[in-house]
Amino acid sequence: MEGVRVSLACALLLFVVSSIASAAIVEHTFNVQNLTISRLCKRQVITVVNGSLPGPTVRVKEGDSLVIHVINNSPHNITIHWHGIFHRLTVWADGPSMITQCPIQPAGHRYAYRFNITGQEGTLWWHAHSSFLRATVYGAIIIRPKSGHSYPFPKPHKEVPIIFGEWWNTDVVALEEAAIATGVPPNNSDAYTINGLPGNLYPCSKDRMFNLDVVKGKLYLLRIINAAMNMQLFFKIANHKLTVVAADAVYTKPYLTDVIVIAPGQTVDALLHADQSIGSSYYMAAHPYASTPLVPFPNTTTRGVIHYIGGASKTRRTKRVLMPKLPSFFDTPTAHRFYSNLTSLVGGPHWVPVPHHVDEEMLVTIGLGLEACAKCPNSKFAASMNNHSFVLPKKLSILEAVFHGVDGIFTPDFPNQPPVKFDYTDPNITQTSPGLLFVHKSTSAKVLKFNTTVDLVLQNHALLAAENHPMHLHGFNFHVLAQGFGNYDPTRDRSKYNLVNPQFRNTLAVPVGGWAVVRFRADNPGAWIMHCHIDVHLPFGLGMVFVVENGPTKSTSLPPPPPDLPRC
Ligand code: C2O
Repeated sequence: MEGVRVSLACALLLFVVSSIASAAIVEHTFNVQNLTISRLCKRQVITVVNGSLPGPTVRVKEGDSLVIHVINNSPHNITIHWHGIFHRLTVWADGPSMITQCPIQPAGHRYAYRFNITGQEGTLWWHAHSSFLRATVYGAIIIRPKSGHSYPFPKPHKEVPIIFGEWWNTDVVALEEAAIATGVPPNNSDAYTINGLPGNLYPCSKDRMFNLDVVKGKLYLLRIINAAMNMQLFFKIANHKLTVVAADAVYTKPYLTDVIVIAPGQTVDALLHADQSIGSSYYMAAHPYASTPLVPFPNTTTRGVIHYIGGASKTRRTKRVLMPKLPSFFDTPTAHRFYSNLTSLVGGPHWVPVPHHVDEEMLVTIGLGLEACAKCPNSKFAASMNNHSFVLPKKLSILEAVFHGVDGIFTPDFPNQPPVKFDYTDPNITQTSPGLLFVHKSTSAKVLKFNTTVDLVLQNHALLAAENHPMHLHGFNFHVLAQGFGNYDPTRDRSKYNLVNPQFRNTLAVPVGGWAVVRFRADNPGAWIMHCHIDVHLPFGLGMVFVVENGPTKSTSLPPPPPDLPRC
């Protein structure tokens, strides 16, 4: 009897110890530095973390705490954003420059980002969130289930990050400065990359290709991230199908497909079953999904290759390599099918049901426009949400202004409705109503009471060019209730809301010439930017900020800034 009690107590103690031990503190140092590397026959100076492109992969278990010491030894101001992390009460570590912090200055200045990873599993990523630097300052965040928990799908033999990027044969910071000064979008990139490598369809890039060795019969989990600056991408692997199991670190109902489309900012986890003949090798390839033929885009293709190892007498070199057939650049039906068919895994780990009660309804138009410019020959390009074209504050971050009650940094005037109603998706609207083109420049925020549930209709407009915009909300996932083409019509479209198993994600590609309805609960105090993840659209103003007020208790209120928060 005594013995039983002792061993029970032991077991209990062991259980307690192991569950404490399962939440670890994961610590990294990110040294931001310039590096000269060669790509596409050229040597180019780029800014990277810890000397590599992509930067280091951050591997954690759900429930872990992260401390990342960022030391800036580059010549540029920088911040790092942890894209898709919920940051419960750690908005000071979110990272967008001038929204939640002033940038970390050069010459060895540093800031420690401290946050927990709770309630999310799958793939997210980190990237620079100041100027164009995220072109080369990015990497994966892999969140596995905590010890004793498993994936809601068969255990893969290996996990493989597949990170798409975009490469310029030029200094990307200078490129962006010129674009902002002239109001003309920057030059197209020179290549797309997979894990930093363009692949052998580009000049001088034969051995610059991502290689993946697989064993026949095994299962692989591809953790796909679109870190490209401006382009959505179609992705395929010759002769293989993929099963999507998560998007933006939320498990999905398994979705079998031969093609993936992924917008900048998004992630997709997909299972690859190595079930093809080992006598061949297979290219994986990505090229753009361009939602509008009106905007020029880099129409090149990046690829990597999958080799089956073992068994074959042939060496890699002599094997036939098969190329997948990618959809055409303008294949909106294929893109829309993928984007709109994903659903969440009801009852799966961390599943969040849709809130049913709604407190605030907003209709927000998004798209391009013009800014009048007295000193320029022409008007400048601009972009806006509800005709408010977002300008970053210069003196102090919005979050510091909120916390310290400093006036004059932002205006709490972001409207719930567009200032002018018009036929948003009329393809002739630019010609018939040119007066609508001109935006209002401001640093506008929408202030939300703690725990407000917001229904947000994102309505693309066709001014200048109707385009698909990948809209990203910091700090929250939103449920994607419905999407469609044309103008949103409340009486017709409300009946289409999926309140059962909608996608729950942080970045949504709003259909070209169309709309989407998302719902989120503002249960985390702070200043959270929502913006288009096409990188050139953010400096043009396609963003706004939600300021979420404190809740009633200390544990629902914004803590003070950490002592090492960078100063402007
Ligand atoms: Cu991935 Cu505001 O960013």
